[in-house]
Amino acid sequence: MIPRSVKTFAPATISNLGPGFDVLGVAVHAPGDFVLASRQKERGLSFSVKTDQTHVPQDPERNVAAYVAQLMLRELKPSFGVQMILQKSMPIGSGLGSSAASSVAAAMAVNELLPKPLKKSKLLRFALEGELFACGSLHADNAAPSLFGGGCLIRSYDPLDVVPITIDSSLVWIVVHPHVVVLTKKARAILPRSIPLCSAVRQWGNVAGLVLGLARGDRDLIKRSVEDVIMEPARARLIPGFDDVKRAALKAGALGCSISGSGPSVFSIAPSMRAARIISTAMTTSFRRAAGVSSDVFISRTNLCGANVVWRKDA
Ligand code: HSE
Repeated sequence: MIPRSVKTFAPATISNLGPGFDVLGVAVHAPGDFVLASRQKERGLSFSVKTDQTHVPQDPERNVAAYVAQLMLRELKPSFGVQMILQKSMPIGSGLGSSAASSVAAAMAVNELLPKPLKKSKLLRFALEGELFACGSLHADNAAPSLFGGGCLIRSYDPLDVVPITIDSSLVWIVVHPHVVVLTKKARAILPRSIPLCSAVRQWGNVAGLVLGLARGDRDLIKRSVEDVIMEPARARLIPGFDDVKRAALKAGALGCSISGSGPSVFSIAPSMRAARIISTAMTTSFRRAAGVSSDVFISRTNLCGANVVWRKDA
């Protein structure tokens, strides 16, 4: 039976993972965005947002979740319209894949209401259009892990080729979100347009090393490979206290530390839950001492299921 209403959830993601700009990402359990959607008789979309944040666009023409939903309705032409509420709990401009989570949760919700829902793999295209709308670029390293869960390698963009990567279950992700905003558009505009061959060689060595290290749970290989010699140096100055926070994380036992997505969140990899708590305290303390910035902490194992339907109510 086709549900009348659904509630979906799409999780936050850590993209790039240090060296893998636009090609590596992983889903975590929290935070994330929720979408409530119901069928309505009138075609088209009725849209509203529930949030504590002030800067989330309420206008459906400017909100990424509404944009994705409208795109799907226009293309798939169901015989009904959709009433949608975005429950936006993720901070925008945080480096946690906020726009991707909204896009993915909206795509999942519209899809569930269709008489013949598409496979998850067919939804990625709509979420990517959302990324283009929100950030000005078609990067998939947030949307893919948010949708599918686990770790993802975007092996190619043309054609799009998303490959799941294994992440050893002992590893724990820490994301510290300082209370400053960095918009992805801006953080992409300052990136180098060309890179020296020696930096490229170092970077792709690190990407390969990290993928292997994560799969094997090889702590030393992870330690050597979470190194971004291209994007991090350009973006670090957008994050107050970044160098101190990174130093503090590594000193406290992190296997690696770098910028989460386009920042300002900073992620670390910990070898255990206990270590994660110690490292996260070192990071938040350092943000406060070095930059006078307060922050939120998210500690999570890898989220293996990605976006999901929280509940459905049948007609
Ligand atoms: N890979 C993208 C970037 C992620 O670094 O710009 C944006 O969250």
